[in-house]
This record gives sequence, C-alpha cells and structure tokens, in this order.
Amino acid sequence: MYVCLCQGITDKDIRDAINSGCSSYKEVRAALNIASQCGKCGCLAKQITKESMVEA
Ligand code: FES
Repeated sequence: MYVCLCQGITDKDIRDAINSGCSSYKEVRAALNIASQCGKCGCLAKQITKESMVEA
C-alpha cells in the first residue's frame, strides 16, 4: 500500500526502515524523505511507524 504518493513510499518501505535501525518517526522521515512534498501522508506515515515499532 502506498503511504506517500509524492515519493512513492509504501508501508513496507517504512517497516524496512525501522528494521534497518530507524527508531522514531523523525528518523523514518529523514531516511525516506517522506512527507517532504505535499505533506498529506504525514499522519498515516506516523501511525504506521508507531504500529510497526510496537510489532518490532
Ligand atoms: Fe507524501 Fe505528498 S503524499 S509528501
């Protein structure tokens, strides 16, 4: 599922970023460049990051 259409980032990309060491939404955002254009994906990206960190 695409989370960020502007950058073509999927929920899997977010999970991969967390698995490779990102430990906060801020780090995920910096690593993937998510929410850097229209910003609409910010809320969802944050939520997925949170959920993925609970699972991890
Ligand atoms: Fe992510 Fe636009 S959808 S910046």
